Amino acid sequence: MPERIMIEGGVPLRGEVTASGAKNAALPLMAASLLMPGKMVLENVPDLRDVRTMKKLLEHLGVRCEGDGTLSLDSARTGNCEAPYELVKTMRASVLVLGPLLARFGQARVSQPGGCAIGARPINRHVAGLEAMGATVYLEHGYVVARADRLRGAQIVFEAPTVTGTENLVMAGVLAEGETVLLNAAREPEVKDLADALNLMGARITGAGTAEIRIQGVTSLTPATYTVMPDRIETGTYIAAAGITGGDVTVRHCVPDHLRAVIEKMKKAGIDIEEGEDWIRARCGNGIKAADVITDPFPGFPTDMQAQFMALMTLSDGLSSVTETIFEQRFMHVPELCRMGADITLSERHAAIKGVRSLSGAPVMATDLRASASLVLAGLGATEGVTEISRVYHLDRGYEDLDNKLAGLGARIWRTGG
Ligand code: EPU
Repeated sequence: MPERIMIEGGVPLRGEVTASGAKNAALPLMAASLLMPGKMVLENVPDLRDVRTMKKLLEHLGVRCEGDGTLSLDSARTGNCEAPYELVKTMRASVLVLGPLLARFGQARVSQPGGCAIGARPINRHVAGLEAMGATVYLEHGYVVARADRLRGAQIVFEAPTVTGTENLVMAGVLAEGETVLLNAAREPEVKDLADALNLMGARITGAGTAEIRIQGVTSLTPATYTVMPDRIETGTYIAAAGITGGDVTVRHCVPDHLRAVIEKMKKAGIDIEEGEDWIRARCGNGIKAADVITDPFPGFPTDMQAQFMALMTLSDGLSSVTETIFEQRFMHVPELCRMGADITLSERHAAIKGVRSLSGAPVMATDLRASASLVLAGLGATEGVTEISRVYHLDRGYEDLDNKLAGLGARIWRTGG
């Protein structure tokens, strides 16, 4: 019997939970180890399926990976430049090895990522940037093949921001000849985390975290130890869990500044928020209020919190709307939430949510990482019946120890099968 997560909801969550290291910071940081022949040590690496997939990919490329929470990555004997289909198809972030391989070895062969559950997700902006830096890039038997003797700095204007595209070009620019300027770059904190680590290794990057990033190429990098930033989406998910259960949860070891747009909307939704330098306390005692969100690149409301916010809105006191502007198909959670009693009408990129008095537990299916998180939240908020979530591997891609962390806050949640 495949593994499932069972939830008996209706318990207000109370207590403290610690945010893990950020998945979307850890993955590019791990890929960055390919840029130099020495040992890179990463601390606060979350134990996730995507991290294990990235380890497998790096090992395939010849990187020696040792340890878990503290991960040592030794690229001394690297030389294989091919990211195979079997690994890329399970994790699109595998494309993050493209920039570093090309920059260090002058060549890369990376299986072209296909579409996924949340949309088509092409990599044309990564490729256009590498071409502007002098690479020859072509498609061959489903693989993106890139070659360049040495990349040259260039000015690259992204037609729209892309997170992993920006990260790939930052990594490529670090070892390129001369200056690379990235305009309309992604401003996500994970991009800054990557740049901070690279600067510690001897790179010369300024402006990361803004839309204009400047990189002065260097000839080599030196080993360093770096601590992965806390996961802002995991943090936001626990805030939503406090809200949907009418609980009182403090998330420790997080960065409130990374969650400004989320905190703002959670307050509008009736959640009382207090914060300190590295903690957020979320309390909800008077019911959930209807609030509208539109997803946007950072510092806007993150698409990675859209499904979780929608779960919260299913129990609000009125009509709310969620508009998804980043990914065209990121509404797979809607029919599942409706099976639990939610009242949601979809039209193209908009969801209209009419708050209902209660949700009821039901068997539901996880379709992608954040959709699964929304089903967990709905299960926690359901006041009758048991929610049974199948395909839990989606959750395990991006939430470290989610069920145990929630159980620690008093949730009745357990795994079965597997
Ligand atoms: N896009 C293109 N061409 C490109 C690149 C992107 O058209 O060359 C489009 C995408 O299809 C999408 C938009 O641009 O419509 C933005 O995509 P982006 O490239 O920023 O997304 P990503 O880098 O593939 C990262 C995160 C995602 C997160 C998005 C948006 C990692 C490893 N992944 O993906 O995280 O949703 O940014 O913030 O950092 C998740 O953690 O659940 C997740 C999906």
